Amino acid sequence: MLTSTLFIYISCIILGLFIALFSSKRKRELQQQNSPSAQNTKETPIQLDKLIIGLGNPGQQYENMRHNVGKLFISYTANKFNAQLKKINQGYLAILNEDTNLPKIGLFNTYCYMNISGKSISEVIKKHQVKVENIIVVHDDLDNAFGKVKIKEGGSAEGHNGLKSIIEYLDTKEFLRLKIGIDRPNSRDPIVISPYVLGNFSTDQQTRLNTEIFEKGIEILKNKNFIQC
Ligand SMILES: *[C@@H]1O[C@H](CO)[C@@H](O)[C@H](O)[C@H]1NC(C)=O
Ligand SMILES: *[C@@H]1O[C@H](CO)[C@@H](O)[C@H](O)[C@H]1NC(C)=O
Repeated sequence: MLTSTLFIYISCIILGLFIALFSSKRKRELQQQNSPSAQNTKETPIQLDKLIIGLGNPGQQYENMRHNVGKLFISYTANKFNAQLKKINQGYLAILNEDTNLPKIGLFNTYCYMNISGKSISEVIKKHQVKVENIIVVHDDLDNAFGKVKIKEGGSAEGHNGLKSIIEYLDTKEFLRLKIGIDRPNSRDPIVISPYVLGNFSTDQQTRLNTEIFEKGIEILKNKNFIQC
C-alpha cells in the first residue's frame, strides 16, 4: 500500500517535471519569436558600398562653425540629391541610390562631440558592413586656403580631434579624407587656433560654401566613385 502510494507520488512528480520542462521550452520559443532582437534580425541594416562621413559638433551654436564644415557638407549633399538624413542610434544617415541597382552610398553625420566621433563611426561601419577603404571623412583643414578642397589618403590626425578619435577607434590611419580648407590664423598656438575653428564662417563664406565649394567636393567624390548617380 505504502509502496504503491509512493509509486504514484513519484510518477506525478516526474510527469509534473516533464510538463514544466516542456512548457518552459515552449514559452522560451514564443518569447524568442516575439522579442525585439528577433524582429531586428529580420530587418538587417542595409549594406553600404560607400560611406561619406561629416565631422562636427552637435547643437545649434556649433552649426556654422569652421570646425563643422564636414557636417555642413553632408547636409548640403543630402539635400542636393534629395536624400533625407534620418536619425539612427549613432547619428544621422541618408542613403543615396536606396531604391536602385547603383552602389548604395551612405551620408553620415554623428551627433556626439567631435572628440569621441570615432565611437559612433566605428559602430556605423560595422552595422552597415562598410570596408574601411570605402569610407571618406570630410573635415576642416587649417593648412589650406579657405575654399580649397582636396583628397588625402591616410596620414596623421594633424591635431584634429575628430581624426584623432577615428584613428583611435578604427585602429588605423589608413582611410580617405576630404579636406576643406578654412585658412590658418597666423599662429599654431591652441589659444589662438581653438576659438578660430570654433568661430562661425562669415555670411560671405557661407554663401561661397553653398554655391561653389561644396560643389567642388561633390565633383571630387564623383571622380573617385564615391558618389554615383
Ligand atoms: C555663430 O552662429 C550661431 C548660430 O548658428 C550663433 O548662435 C552664435 O552666437 C554665433 N557665434 C558667434 C561667435 O558669432
Ligand atoms: C570632448 O569635448 C567636449 C566639448 O568640448 C568636452 O566637454 C569633453 O570633456 C571632451 N571629451 C574628451 C574625452 O576629451
